[in-house]
Amino acid sequence: MTANEYKEKIDGALESYFKNEDIPQAGLADAMRYSLLAGGKRIRPMLVLEFCRISGGDVEAAMPVACAIEMLHTYSLIHDDLPCMDNDDLRRGRPTNHVVYGECTATLAGDALQAEAFGTILRCGLPSDRRVACAEALADAVGIDGMCGGQYLDMLGEGKVLTEQELTDINSRKTGALLVAACQMGVAAAGGSRIMMDAAGQFGAAIGMAFQIRDDMLDVLSTKEQLGKPIGSDKDEKKNTYMVLMGKDGCEQTVEKLTEFAKNILREAFTDTDFLNSLADSLAKRFN
Ligand code: IPE
Ligand code: IPE
Ligand code: MG
Ligand code: MG
Ligand code: MG
Repeated sequence: MTANEYKEKIDGALESYFKNEDIPQAGLADAMRYSLLAGGKRIRPMLVLEFCRISGGDVEAAMPVACAIEMLHTYSLIHDDLPCMDNDDLRRGRPTNHVVYGECTATLAGDALQAEAFGTILRCGLPSDRRVACAEALADAVGIDGMCGGQYLDMLGEGKVLTEQELTDINSRKTGALLVAACQMGVAAAGGSRIMMDAAGQFGAAIGMAFQIRDDMLDVLSTKEQLGKPIGSDKDEKKNTYMVLMGKDGCEQTVEKLTEFAKNILREAFTDTDFLNSLADSLAKRFN
């Protein structure tokens, strides 16, 4: 499958969630769907499905797991944009959730998307040991050692000078952990081997780090039309970023190195790696 074909399938599957209009809390479902269906790049679900495929699994059966990680990611974006966090008003080319629905509903939409992500995994048709492995990987990626821990440290670091090691630790948690989980959940959904799981984890960590470095670059170098989110947000919030730490050239070189490392890792555990190689390359050069 091409990236566009994956994206279309994922968008189609996501469309079927939270459609119930005859409930008193339909307004909350609207807010959830507003951000979920706003058209992200769908990188994390794509990684779930492709790692499932190259680990010998059934891509259709893994679709709920793919949708779940996109729900979780969307929750993290809604909360990341809140006035108490990055205070941004544009996301995925649209006004942010709290701008449209208010802070209270936006907070609850994020909370509900997180719970529904786990429910979607636990209710899906995969064998129970695979569902448990996927849910556990997601929980680890999001909790105190993962995304939430990273977001906390990101906030704590505002206005301070951090070392490269401290910044790397923050970014591997706030962004890398979920990309590691995406790759490993794909292997888990297929019942893949320990060797596959380890390679998927290393690939995810490397492209995850490259992904956040590129994100920091785009916050300075892109336009809001191209990016679909505000530029200059990191400076406004006095964030520590790789752009501050190593400049554009340093960022470009590091992204390239991490991407090459990621591609080499795959070769050790998988045979059919063309899609992931070109995905890694395109992420390293992305403009949105
Ligand atoms: C944005 O993630 C948040 C970061 C982790 C840097 P994406 O760049 O994957 O955002 P969408 O899903 O395409 O909107
Ligand atoms: C946060 O990083 C990543 C998340 C955990 C949501 P950023 O704050 O840099 O993400 P953007 O630039 O707002 O998408
Ligand atoms: Mg942030
Ligand atoms: Mg942000
Ligand atoms: Mg950013």
